[in-house]
Amino acid sequence: MLAHSLVAVVACVGSAAAVSVDPLPAPRSIVWGSAGPIAVPDLVAVDLPTSQILADAWDRAWGTIVGLRWVPQATQAPISSYEPFPTATAAAASPSTHKRNENEQQQQLQLVKVNVADVDVDLQAEVDESYTLDLAPGSDTIEINANTTWGALHAFTTLQQIVISDGSNSNDANGLIIEQPVHIEDAPLYSWRGIMIDTGRNFISLPKIKEQIDGMALSKMNILHWHLTDSQSWPFDMHTYPEMIRDAYSPRETFSRSDVSDIIEYARARGVRVVPEVDTPGHSAAGWQQIDSSIVACANSWWSNDNYAYHTAVEPPPGQLDIINNDTYGVVENVYNELSDIFTDNYYHIGGDELNTNCYKFSAYVTDWLSSDPTRTYNDLVQYWVDHAFPIFQNIPNRKLLFWEDLLLGDPHALSVPTENVLVQSWQNGIANIHNLTARGYDVLVSSADFLYLDCGFGGFVTNDPRYNVQSNPDPSQDNFNYLGDGGSWCAPYKTWQRIYDYDFTTNLTSEQAAHVKGAVAALWSEQVDDTVVSDRIWPRAAALAELVWSGNRDERTGGKRTTLLTQRILNFREYLVANGVMATPLVPKYCLQHPHACDLYYNQTVIT
Ligand SMILES: *[C@@H]1O[C@H](CO)[C@@H](O)[C@H](O)[C@H]1NC(C)=O
Ligand SMILES: *[C@@H]1O[C@H](CO)[C@@H](O)[C@H](O)[C@H]1NC(C)=O
Ligand SMILES: *[C@@H]1O[C@H](CO)[C@@H](O)[C@H](O)[C@H]1NC(C)=O
Ligand SMILES: *[C@@H]1O[C@H](CO)[C@@H](O)[C@H](O)[C@H]1NC(C)=O
Ligand SMILES: *[C@@H]1O[C@H](CO)[C@@H](O)[C@H](O)[C@H]1NC(C)=O
Repeated sequence: MLAHSLVAVVACVGSAAAVSVDPLPAPRSIVWGSAGPIAVPDLVAVDLPTSQILADAWDRAWGTIVGLRWVPQATQAPISSYEPFPTATAAAASPSTHKRNENEQQQQLQLVKVNVADVDVDLQAEVDESYTLDLAPGSDTIEINANTTWGALHAFTTLQQIVISDGSNSNDANGLIIEQPVHIEDAPLYSWRGIMIDTGRNFISLPKIKEQIDGMALSKMNILHWHLTDSQSWPFDMHTYPEMIRDAYSPRETFSRSDVSDIIEYARARGVRVVPEVDTPGHSAAGWQQIDSSIVACANSWWSNDNYAYHTAVEPPPGQLDIINNDTYGVVENVYNELSDIFTDNYYHIGGDELNTNCYKFSAYVTDWLSSDPTRTYNDLVQYWVDHAFPIFQNIPNRKLLFWEDLLLGDPHALSVPTENVLVQSWQNGIANIHNLTARGYDVLVSSADFLYLDCGFGGFVTNDPRYNVQSNPDPSQDNFNYLGDGGSWCAPYKTWQRIYDYDFTTNLTSEQAAHVKGAVAALWSEQVDDTVVSDRIWPRAAALAELVWSGNRDERTGGKRTTLLTQRILNFREYLVANGVMATPLVPKYCLQHPHACDLYYNQTVIT
């Protein structure tokens, strides 16, 4: 784990600067030698196994290397290059600088040899994503080994970050170099590494979804959790029920079946699985109500945040599938079967969050069912859903279900849900809920809102909110503090990349519990997001999560957090994302990226533990 301490040294016109070639996420193990970089010509022979996915991915990676001639912009430098106090006697160690290796003039990279043990292994959960990448001392060949196509793709995104340009572009050199020797052994800590987008609250177009997938591929994330619909809109054009699309925002803001297949193919070509979520039975009005209004409860109720006793939804508009109406299940089955036809991942997300009991007071089916047996509770009602809907969802070969933790921990919640073939997505109470679920034997996906919700901190979206009508700065200690209270940005503040990276989500778990944690997904709910801002809400913050779940946030030697090392890496990666067309937001004044650690809060580099 020495990546951070080694730098490729590059001669620039007029000055020499140490240039980091740390890829993001940091590999599990990367060992550089110090022989000095060798030149990389624009045309390098490549020996690839026969695979269209590999051939395309190689063309993209190499095309990027040659097309961008990327000069890493953020350097790694020791903190000792600054003087802490005027009285300090510290001799500032200047970053070591070397001339370009003389080898470079004679020696060039000739070949990239890619070996894949089995190119036919499908992209599914838990697939082997490991790879090794070697450039031996004095060698002119990079050798990549992987067990699957998907591991090889990760090797390519590493390679494209470590072949850099020295900034020169003279007659005798094209500027491309790679430090050598280098030996990388890499594999992810967690098999689920993702982001969630929401195309139900606001529409997000195909090109913008692809832009997210590009960022994911570069940061080795592999799950696009696609929250496709919600009670506000149904953008997906179903063949089974063509009337559902009437609840899209407009004919332009829709996805055809071929659009969806296009996204799935695009993602797969980049090692990303697409896991769809059509939320049920909560968050369901749009689309469903077009088929049969009797299968949707409370769709026409006032959400009633003002008179909380009548509250029917966490946000407007209300609507939940009627659990007792028998007709609900035939519709659910037809919708599910059509979606399963298109979304071929073994996992499918059935939603399951935020069921509101008041909503069912609008359903005669439910109120009759409850009153016909006074021992029945709303927990029994949720159990009825599990007992009747799960068999439909599980009636597909190899199908595994993903759902929000509310089905188990919400009020109301089900009384008995099997632990087999399910994965529970935790979003509330941070580590406490992860602890609870794993102790009960459930596999867990971490999306804790306090750390991983990317939409937080932008204020409330509900309109006509009188709590904003105060002529002084709101008092955070008050319940009705405008930006934290009900209806405000409930999950404020904004989660910074440091907040994300420093999240130790397996704290206090036994090793048996920790083994149930399958990974993490950063969620971007889209009440205040569409094409105009989606990329800057997600990037580069999602890259902090990408590294957290790929190689962790700790230095294997010291056990300490390596946030200080991620700093320059993520600042550089942000520049790289933008260069690759992913419109990531700036994290700092550019000064901070060009002056390593000058913008740190403390001089002490190990203050984060
Ligand atoms: C491939 O699989 C073998 C056997 O499971 C394993 O030892 C190796 O680390 C894997 N990865 C690579 C890159 O070979
Ligand atoms: C639903 O179907 C079952 C079995 O066919 C039947 O016993 C029950 O009365 C029906 N319930 C409703 C609410 O229609
Ligand atoms: C999990 O939380 C539920 C609901 O609060 C509680 O009843 C249960 O005892 C908890 N289980 C564990 C193992 O912590
Ligand atoms: C972990 O457990 C310790 C000891 O019970 C407790 O003090 C601490 O708050 C726990 N940490 C978290 C994050 O839950
Ligand atoms: C830096 O911070 C860590 C963590 O608080 C502390 O253990 C260490 O002593 C500090 N180092 C210096 C030089 O102050």
